Amino acid sequence: MNEYIQKVNELKEQSNNEINAVNDAASLRSVQEKHLSKKSPLSGMMSLIKELTGDERIAFGQSMNDARKAVSECFASKEKAINDEIIKNKLEKEKIDITLPSVSYKMGGINPFYLIQDEMIDIFTSMGYQVVEGPDVESDYFNFERMNIPANHPAREMQDSFYITNSVLLRTHTSPAQAHAMDAAKGQPLKIICPGKCYRRDDDDATHSHQFGQIEGLVIDKGINLGNLKATLELFLRKMFGEKREVRFRSSYFPFTEPSVEVDISCMECHGKGCPICKGTGYIEILGAGMVHPHVLEMSGYDPKEYNGFAFGIGIERVAMLRYGIDDIRKFYQGDVRFIEQFTRK
Ligand code: PHE
Repeated sequence: MNEYIQKVNELKEQSNNEINAVNDAASLRSVQEKHLSKKSPLSGMMSLIKELTGDERIAFGQSMNDARKAVSECFASKEKAINDEIIKNKLEKEKIDITLPSVSYKMGGINPFYLIQDEMIDIFTSMGYQVVEGPDVESDYFNFERMNIPANHPAREMQDSFYITNSVLLRTHTSPAQAHAMDAAKGQPLKIICPGKCYRRDDDDATHSHQFGQIEGLVIDKGINLGNLKATLELFLRKMFGEKREVRFRSSYFPFTEPSVEVDISCMECHGKGCPICKGTGYIEILGAGMVHPHVLEMSGYDPKEYNGFAFGIGIERVAMLRYGIDDIRKFYQGDVRFIEQFTRK
Protein backbone atom coordinates (compact mmCIF):
# COMPACT_ATOMS: atom_id res chain seq x y z
CA MET A 1 0.00 0.00 0.00
CA ASN A 2 2.77 2.45 0.96
CA GLU A 3 4.15 2.15 -2.48
CA TYR A 4 0.85 3.38 -3.89
CA ILE A 5 1.03 6.46 -1.71
CA GLN A 6 4.66 6.86 -2.60
CA LYS A 7 3.76 6.72 -6.28
CA VAL A 8 1.08 9.37 -5.74
CA ASN A 9 3.65 11.62 -4.07
CA GLU A 10 6.12 11.02 -6.87
CA LEU A 11 3.54 11.92 -9.49
CA LYS A 12 2.65 15.02 -7.50
CA GLU A 13 6.33 16.07 -7.38
CA GLN A 14 6.73 15.38 -11.06
CA SER A 15 3.62 17.42 -11.99
CA ASN A 16 4.70 20.32 -9.82
CA ASN A 17 8.19 20.29 -11.27
CA GLU A 18 6.82 20.38 -14.79
CA ILE A 19 4.36 23.14 -13.92
CA ASN A 20 7.11 25.19 -12.26
CA ALA A 21 9.36 24.81 -15.29
CA VAL A 22 6.79 26.47 -17.56
CA ASN A 23 7.30 30.09 -18.58
CA ASP A 24 4.69 30.93 -21.17
CA ALA A 25 0.93 30.73 -21.60
CA ALA A 26 0.94 28.07 -24.35
CA SER A 27 3.10 25.63 -22.34
CA LEU A 28 0.95 26.34 -19.31
CA ARG A 29 -2.14 25.15 -21.24
CA SER A 30 -0.37 21.90 -22.18
CA VAL A 31 0.82 21.12 -18.64
CA GLN A 32 -2.73 21.86 -17.48
CA GLU A 33 -4.05 19.31 -19.94
CA LYS A 34 -1.36 16.80 -18.92
CA HIS A 35 -1.47 17.13 -15.13
CA LEU A 36 -4.87 18.49 -14.16
CA SER A 37 -7.28 16.69 -16.49
CA LYS A 38 -8.97 13.33 -15.89
CA LYS A 39 -6.36 11.80 -18.17
CA SER A 40 -3.44 12.85 -15.98
CA PRO A 41 -1.14 10.18 -14.51
CA LEU A 42 -2.23 11.26 -11.06
CA SER A 43 -5.95 10.86 -11.86
CA GLY A 44 -5.09 7.48 -13.38
CA MET A 45 -3.97 6.36 -9.91
CA MET A 46 -7.57 6.62 -8.73
CA SER A 47 -8.45 3.30 -10.33
CA LEU A 48 -6.20 1.59 -7.74
CA ILE A 49 -8.61 2.48 -4.97
CA LYS A 50 -10.73 -0.50 -5.91
CA GLU A 51 -7.95 -2.76 -4.67
CA LEU A 52 -7.93 -1.24 -1.21
CA THR A 53 -10.17 -1.50 1.83
CA GLY A 54 -10.53 -0.02 5.30
CA ASP A 55 -7.80 2.24 6.65
CA GLU A 56 -5.64 1.69 3.61
CA ARG A 57 -8.39 2.91 1.36
CA ILE A 58 -8.89 5.98 3.56
CA ALA A 59 -5.18 6.80 3.69
CA PHE A 60 -4.83 6.38 -0.05
CA GLY A 61 -7.89 8.57 -0.77
CA GLN A 62 -6.47 11.21 1.55
CA SER A 63 -3.09 11.20 -0.22
CA MET A 64 -4.84 11.48 -3.60
CA ASN A 65 -6.83 14.49 -2.42
CA ASP A 66 -3.74 16.15 -0.92
CA ALA A 67 -1.79 15.56 -4.11
CA ARG A 68 -4.49 16.96 -6.40
CA LYS A 69 -4.89 19.99 -4.17
CA ALA A 70 -1.14 20.62 -4.18
CA VAL A 71 -0.96 20.34 -7.98
CA SER A 72 -3.97 22.68 -8.44
CA GLU A 73 -2.41 25.24 -6.12
CA CYS A 74 0.91 25.00 -7.86
CA PHE A 75 -0.85 25.51 -11.19
CA ALA A 76 -2.89 28.48 -9.91
CA SER A 77 0.18 30.30 -8.65
CA LYS A 78 2.04 29.62 -11.90
CA GLU A 79 -0.93 30.85 -13.90
CA LYS A 80 -1.05 34.07 -11.86
CA ALA A 81 2.69 34.64 -12.27
CA ILE A 82 2.45 34.20 -16.05
CA ASN A 83 -0.62 36.48 -16.35
CA ASP A 84 1.07 39.15 -14.22
CA GLU A 85 4.06 38.98 -16.49
CA ILE A 86 1.86 39.32 -19.59
CA ILE A 87 0.15 42.43 -18.14
CA LYS A 88 3.45 43.92 -17.06
CA ASN A 89 4.94 43.48 -20.55
CA LYS A 90 1.83 44.90 -22.14
CA LEU A 91 1.93 47.99 -19.95
CA GLU A 92 5.58 48.51 -20.67
CA LYS A 93 4.99 48.34 -24.40
CA GLU A 94 1.82 50.42 -24.39
CA LYS A 95 3.26 53.90 -24.19
CA ILE A 96 0.92 56.80 -25.05
CA ASP A 97 2.29 58.84 -27.90
CA ILE A 98 1.69 62.38 -26.70
CA THR A 99 3.10 63.78 -29.94
CA LEU A 100 0.06 62.59 -31.90
CA PRO A 101 -2.24 65.48 -32.84
CA SER A 102 -5.39 65.40 -30.71
CA VAL A 103 -8.96 66.06 -31.72
CA SER A 104 -9.74 69.61 -30.67
CA TYR A 105 -13.21 70.78 -29.86
CA LYS A 106 -14.28 74.27 -30.81
CA MET A 107 -14.60 76.30 -27.62
CA GLY A 108 -16.07 79.75 -27.32
CA GLY A 109 -14.04 82.48 -25.66
CA ILE A 110 -15.17 85.02 -23.12
CA ASN A 111 -15.22 88.57 -24.42
CA PRO A 112 -12.40 90.47 -22.64
CA PHE A 113 -15.01 93.10 -21.73
CA TYR A 114 -16.65 90.60 -19.38
CA LEU A 115 -13.34 89.18 -18.10
CA ILE A 116 -12.36 92.67 -16.97
CA GLN A 117 -15.84 93.57 -15.72
CA ASP A 118 -15.82 90.42 -13.54
CA GLU A 119 -12.37 91.24 -12.23
CA MET A 120 -13.42 94.79 -11.35
CA ILE A 121 -16.55 93.52 -9.61
CA ASP A 122 -14.43 91.02 -7.62
CA ILE A 123 -12.12 93.79 -6.41
CA PHE A 124 -14.99 96.01 -5.25
CA THR A 125 -17.02 93.21 -3.67
CA SER A 126 -13.87 92.22 -1.74
CA MET A 127 -13.91 95.77 -0.35
CA GLY A 128 -17.51 95.30 0.80
CA TYR A 129 -19.44 96.88 -2.08
CA GLN A 130 -22.83 95.49 -3.05
CA VAL A 131 -23.62 95.05 -6.73
CA VAL A 132 -26.83 96.66 -8.00
CA GLU A 133 -28.25 97.12 -11.47
CA GLY A 134 -30.08 99.99 -13.08
CA PRO A 135 -32.14 100.12 -16.28
CA ASP A 136 -30.52 100.80 -19.67
CA VAL A 137 -33.66 102.64 -20.78
CA GLU A 138 -33.82 105.58 -18.42
CA SER A 139 -35.95 108.62 -17.83
CA ASP A 140 -34.61 112.07 -18.51
CA TYR A 141 -35.34 112.73 -14.83
CA PHE A 142 -32.95 110.07 -13.50
CA ASN A 143 -30.30 110.39 -16.20
CA PHE A 144 -30.04 114.19 -15.87
CA GLU A 145 -32.23 116.00 -13.30
CA ARG A 146 -31.33 113.77 -10.38
CA MET A 147 -27.68 114.08 -11.38
CA ASN A 148 -27.92 117.83 -10.99
CA ILE A 149 -28.11 118.44 -14.74
CA PRO A 150 -31.33 120.49 -15.24
CA ALA A 151 -32.86 121.19 -18.66
CA ASN A 152 -30.75 123.54 -20.79
CA HIS A 153 -27.71 122.79 -18.65
CA PRO A 154 -24.69 122.78 -20.98
CA ALA A 155 -23.62 119.40 -19.57
CA ARG A 156 -26.51 117.79 -21.48
CA GLU A 157 -24.63 118.59 -24.63
CA MET A 158 -21.50 116.92 -23.27
CA GLN A 159 -23.41 113.67 -23.55
CA ASP A 160 -25.17 113.32 -26.89
CA SER A 161 -28.08 111.08 -26.09
CA PHE A 162 -30.24 108.54 -27.89
CA TYR A 163 -33.77 109.73 -27.09
CA ILE A 164 -36.65 107.27 -27.39
CA THR A 165 -39.36 109.78 -26.52
CA ASN A 166 -39.06 113.37 -25.27
CA SER A 167 -38.42 112.18 -21.75
CA VAL A 168 -37.04 108.66 -22.20
CA LEU A 169 -33.55 107.84 -23.40
CA LEU A 170 -30.81 105.22 -23.33
CA ARG A 171 -28.75 106.14 -20.27
CA THR A 172 -25.65 108.11 -21.17
CA HIS A 173 -23.80 107.01 -18.02
CA THR A 174 -24.35 104.62 -15.10
CA SER A 175 -24.69 107.55 -12.67
CA PRO A 176 -28.54 107.45 -12.59
CA ALA A 177 -28.07 104.11 -10.78
CA GLN A 178 -26.78 106.27 -7.88
CA ALA A 179 -30.18 107.96 -7.60
CA HIS A 180 -32.07 104.63 -7.77
CA ALA A 181 -29.81 103.17 -5.08
CA MET A 182 -30.22 106.20 -2.81
CA ASP A 183 -34.01 106.12 -3.23
CA ALA A 184 -34.03 102.45 -2.26
CA ALA A 185 -31.76 103.04 0.77
CA LYS A 186 -34.23 105.57 2.23
CA GLY A 187 -31.65 107.72 3.97
CA GLN A 188 -29.44 104.83 5.19
CA PRO A 189 -25.68 104.44 4.48
CA LEU A 190 -24.80 102.90 1.14
CA LYS A 191 -21.85 101.18 -0.51
CA ILE A 192 -22.68 99.98 -4.02
CA ILE A 193 -21.31 99.48 -7.47
CA CYS A 194 -23.42 99.34 -10.60
CA PRO A 195 -21.87 97.77 -13.70
CA GLY A 196 -23.71 98.27 -16.96
CA LYS A 197 -23.92 99.55 -20.50
CA CYS A 198 -24.21 103.22 -21.50
CA TYR A 199 -25.03 104.78 -24.86
CA ARG A 200 -23.98 108.02 -26.54
CA ARG A 201 -24.48 109.37 -30.03
CA ASP A 202 -20.77 109.22 -30.82
CA ASP A 203 -19.32 108.40 -34.20
CA ASP A 204 -17.56 105.10 -33.69
CA ASP A 205 -13.80 105.13 -34.11
CA ALA A 206 -10.83 103.47 -32.43
CA THR A 207 -11.52 105.20 -29.10
CA HIS A 208 -15.27 105.93 -29.26
CA SER A 209 -18.19 103.57 -29.30
CA HIS A 210 -21.90 104.44 -29.20
CA GLN A 211 -22.26 101.63 -26.67
CA PHE A 212 -19.79 101.15 -23.83
CA GLY A 213 -19.57 99.83 -20.30
CA GLN A 214 -19.08 101.63 -17.01
CA ILE A 215 -18.89 100.65 -13.39
CA GLU A 216 -20.47 103.24 -11.16
CA GLY A 217 -19.50 103.36 -7.51
CA LEU A 218 -21.21 105.15 -4.64
CA VAL A 219 -20.50 105.33 -0.92
CA ILE A 220 -22.78 107.33 1.40
CA ASP A 221 -22.19 107.57 5.12
CA LYS A 222 -21.37 110.04 7.89
CA GLY A 223 -17.92 111.59 7.72
CA ILE A 224 -16.81 110.40 4.29
CA ASN A 225 -14.04 112.53 2.79
CA LEU A 226 -11.88 112.93 -0.29
CA GLY A 227 -9.13 110.90 1.41
CA ASN A 228 -11.46 107.88 1.51
CA LEU A 229 -12.13 108.28 -2.22
CA LYS A 230 -8.44 108.59 -2.98
CA ALA A 231 -7.47 105.53 -0.93
CA THR A 232 -10.26 103.44 -2.47
CA LEU A 233 -9.35 104.31 -6.06
CA GLU A 234 -5.62 103.89 -5.48
CA LEU A 235 -6.23 100.45 -4.02
CA PHE A 236 -8.49 99.50 -6.93
CA LEU A 237 -6.10 100.81 -9.59
CA ARG A 238 -3.05 99.09 -8.08
CA LYS A 239 -4.96 95.80 -7.90
CA MET A 240 -6.02 96.22 -11.51
CA PHE A 241 -2.77 97.53 -13.01
CA GLY A 242 -0.03 96.47 -10.59
CA GLU A 243 1.56 97.83 -7.41
CA LYS A 244 4.06 99.99 -9.27
CA ARG A 245 1.39 102.09 -10.97
CA GLU A 246 1.50 105.81 -10.17
CA VAL A 247 -1.98 107.24 -9.61
CA ARG A 248 -2.60 110.93 -10.25
CA PHE A 249 -5.68 113.01 -9.29
CA ARG A 250 -6.54 116.07 -11.38
CA SER A 251 -9.31 118.46 -10.48
CA SER A 252 -12.16 118.35 -12.97
CA TYR A 253 -15.86 119.08 -13.34
CA PHE A 254 -18.98 116.92 -13.17
CA PRO A 255 -22.34 118.49 -12.28
CA PHE A 256 -23.11 115.73 -9.74
CA THR A 257 -19.86 115.85 -7.75
CA GLU A 258 -18.09 118.67 -5.91
CA PRO A 259 -15.15 118.68 -5.84
CA SER A 260 -14.69 116.51 -8.96
CA VAL A 261 -11.55 114.72 -10.04
CA GLU A 262 -10.26 112.83 -12.99
CA VAL A 263 -7.85 110.04 -12.21
CA ASP A 264 -4.88 109.06 -14.35
CA ILE A 265 -2.45 106.15 -14.04
CA SER A 266 1.15 106.21 -15.18
CA CYS A 267 1.46 104.83 -18.72
CA MET A 268 2.22 101.10 -18.69
CA GLU A 269 4.22 101.43 -21.89
CA CYS A 270 6.66 104.19 -20.96
CA HIS A 271 6.13 104.35 -17.14
CA GLY A 272 5.59 108.11 -17.13
CA LYS A 273 8.32 109.15 -19.59
CA GLY A 274 5.93 109.96 -22.45
CA CYS A 275 5.18 107.87 -25.54
CA PRO A 276 2.58 107.71 -28.36
CA ILE A 277 0.18 105.61 -26.21
CA CYS A 278 -0.09 108.33 -23.53
CA LYS A 279 0.28 111.04 -26.18
CA GLY A 280 3.53 112.16 -24.63
CA THR A 281 2.01 112.95 -21.22
CA GLY A 282 3.25 109.86 -19.33
CA TYR A 283 -0.26 109.36 -17.89
CA ILE A 284 -3.52 107.80 -19.08
CA GLU A 285 -6.92 108.99 -17.91
CA ILE A 286 -8.84 106.14 -16.40
CA LEU A 287 -11.90 107.39 -14.50
CA GLY A 288 -14.01 110.27 -13.21
CA ALA A 289 -14.96 110.71 -9.57
CA GLY A 290 -15.76 113.17 -6.80
CA MET A 291 -17.63 113.94 -3.60
CA VAL A 292 -21.37 113.62 -4.10
CA HIS A 293 -22.85 117.08 -4.72
CA PRO A 294 -24.98 118.31 -1.76
CA HIS A 295 -27.87 118.95 -4.12
CA VAL A 296 -27.78 115.34 -5.35
CA LEU A 297 -27.83 114.16 -1.71
CA GLU A 298 -30.77 116.44 -0.93
CA MET A 299 -32.79 115.29 -3.95
CA SER A 300 -32.19 111.70 -2.78
CA GLY A 301 -33.43 112.22 0.77
CA TYR A 302 -30.13 112.73 2.62
CA ASP A 303 -29.31 115.76 4.74
CA PRO A 304 -25.94 116.95 3.35
CA LYS A 305 -25.04 118.36 6.78
CA GLU A 306 -25.25 114.87 8.23
CA TYR A 307 -24.37 112.55 5.35
CA ASN A 308 -21.89 112.81 2.53
CA GLY A 309 -20.24 110.43 0.13
CA PHE A 310 -18.13 109.82 -2.92
CA ALA A 311 -18.89 108.46 -6.37
CA PHE A 312 -16.84 107.24 -9.28
CA GLY A 313 -17.40 106.03 -12.83
CA ILE A 314 -14.90 103.75 -14.56
CA GLY A 315 -14.94 102.91 -18.27
CA ILE A 316 -14.73 99.14 -18.66
CA GLU A 317 -13.36 98.98 -22.22
CA ARG A 318 -10.75 101.58 -21.28
CA VAL A 319 -9.44 99.33 -18.52
CA ALA A 320 -9.61 96.23 -20.74
CA MET A 321 -7.79 98.02 -23.60
CA LEU A 322 -4.96 99.04 -21.30
CA ARG A 323 -4.72 95.66 -19.60
CA TYR A 324 -4.69 93.62 -22.81
CA GLY A 325 -3.10 96.13 -25.18
CA ILE A 326 -6.22 96.32 -27.37
CA ASP A 327 -5.96 99.28 -29.72
CA ASP A 328 -9.53 99.62 -31.01
CA ILE A 329 -12.69 99.78 -28.87
CA ARG A 330 -14.81 98.51 -31.79
CA LYS A 331 -13.21 95.07 -31.43
CA PHE A 332 -15.28 94.39 -28.29
CA TYR A 333 -18.48 94.64 -30.34
CA GLN A 334 -17.63 93.07 -33.70
CA GLY A 335 -18.08 89.50 -32.50
CA ASP A 336 -14.97 88.27 -34.32
CA VAL A 337 -14.18 84.93 -32.68
CA ARG A 338 -10.52 85.21 -33.67
CA PHE A 339 -10.32 88.23 -31.40
CA ILE A 340 -12.41 86.85 -28.56
CA GLU A 341 -10.74 83.42 -28.52
CA GLN A 342 -7.44 84.95 -27.44
CA PHE A 343 -8.70 85.77 -23.99
CA THR A 344 -9.34 83.20 -21.30
CA ARG A 345 -10.01 83.37 -17.62
CA LYS A 346 -6.81 83.08 -15.61
N1 PHE B 1 -20.80 109.77 -15.04
C1 PHE B 1 -19.49 110.27 -15.37
C2 PHE B 1 -19.24 110.02 -16.85
O1 PHE B 1 -19.92 109.25 -17.45
C3 PHE B 1 -18.43 109.61 -14.56
C4 PHE B 1 -18.54 109.91 -13.11
C5 PHE B 1 -19.23 109.08 -12.25
C6 PHE B 1 -17.92 111.03 -12.57
C7 PHE B 1 -19.32 109.35 -10.90
C8 PHE B 1 -18.00 111.33 -11.23
C9 PHE B 1 -18.69 110.49 -10.40
O2 PHE B 1 -18.35 110.61 -17.44
